[in-house]
Amino acid sequence: MDLHPDLVELAPLVGTWRGEGHGTYPTIEPFDYTEEVVFATVPTKPFLVYRQRTADATSGEPLHTESGYLRAAGPGRIEMTVAQPTGIAEVHAGTVSDGAFDLRSQAVVLTPTAKEVVTVHRHLVVEGDVLRYRLEMGAMGQPHQLHLEAELRRVDS
Ligand code: HEM
Repeated sequence: MDLHPDLVELAPLVGTWRGEGHGTYPTIEPFDYTEEVVFATVPTKPFLVYRQRTADATSGEPLHTESGYLRAAGPGRIEMTVAQPTGIAEVHAGTVSDGAFDLRSQAVVLTPTAKEVVTVHRHLVVEGDVLRYRLEMGAMGQPHQLHLEAELRRVDS
């Protein structure tokens, strides 16, 4: 792995991950999805490139996708930007400790036709070759609460 020295704490994420997740929110029907996530290094750069795509677990139809960057921001500190094709852009700051990544939105910016999202909290935990995450959001006039839970396995490092 071609790892920038600032990325030591982010190293557990690097690779390609696949698995399944479950989604919920008071305003929608619960759903199951399959997911592929890639966290990739760029030679000499102090950030990881993030790409994600999902499909409906039943029909296989493409569902949500997003991409962005994750960067080290000093010991134990991380920052992330995420863009969604649905007109939502998230700017996060947070912490990393022993493979646990905790990111809270500093700003969520919406295009004029995007659905309303006010807050996002992303919590990821890497244990060896297993990546589990939870995503909570405050959206559509609802209190901040769970939207996604997933468990992925490393398929390539
Ligand atoms: C694994 C990633 C995700 C999947 C598979 C997913 C899937 C879905 C599905 C199936 C729906 C209901 C149908 C629809 O409105 O399209 C939905 C609604 C929604 N999602 Fe997600 N989503 C994901 C990530 C996110 C993220 C990161 C955000 C915001 C930061 C988000 C915000 C929303 C909002 C605002 C709605 C609309 C709820 C409503 O119409 O009342 N989603 N999502």
